[in-house]
Amino acid sequence: MKDSVSFRSSGITHAKQCVEEGYLQSVMALSAAMEAKDPYTRGHCDRVAYYSQQVARHMGMDKAIVKQLILAGQLHDLGKIGVDKKVLCKPDRLDSDEFDHIARHPMIAWQILEPALFLSSVRDIIIVHHERFDGKGYPKGLLGNRICPAGKILAVADCYDAMTTNRPYGKHMGKKRALSIIKGEKGNQFDPDIVDAFLQAHPFFEDRESQDLF
Ligand SMILES: [Fe+2]
Repeated sequence: MKDSVSFRSSGITHAKQCVEEGYLQSVMALSAAMEAKDPYTRGHCDRVAYYSQQVARHMGMDKAIVKQLILAGQLHDLGKIGVDKKVLCKPDRLDSDEFDHIARHPMIAWQILEPALFLSSVRDIIIVHHERFDGKGYPKGLLGNRICPAGKILAVADCYDAMTTNRPYGKHMGKKRALSIIKGEKGNQFDPDIVDAFLQAHPFFEDRESQDLF
């Protein structure tokens, strides 16, 4: 009797894992579709996931949180699927309406992922990836320690990749300059401890192509 109960419960666990895996593959496909919409950001999410993973490992973060952070990196721009391509790929400075439009993307991702309870911690990281340490970020303008550490890592990794790759609004500025800008944002845009960890982990970043995230 006991055996049949444990057999049934392991069957349910397996079925749940299959459903979660299927859901994850669907949202990954959606994220890839979003990247395809904007050729400038191709590979961006994978690189951001990799940089975030390296920094989190360097900081000795819990393995489960590192795994959530990798997923958050891969899915952090999912909400851009709901952003007008003309705004997404605009080569000039955005006006305030266009900025408000693009600034909705963390919330759109939050809504897309809402039905997936197993991704709730990943959503909590994605929703804060444009918050700033000084409280001037979006969507909520959260201050300092009200932003989760994983979200703060994702924010630095996201900006670093944006600065070191070509974008519609400009050519990349090179790693040295990007690192000095990140350093200059210590205590403003970014948490000083996370900036220190990023700068310490950075020399060990390798070619993203050869990395196995899990
Ligand atoms: Fe973003």
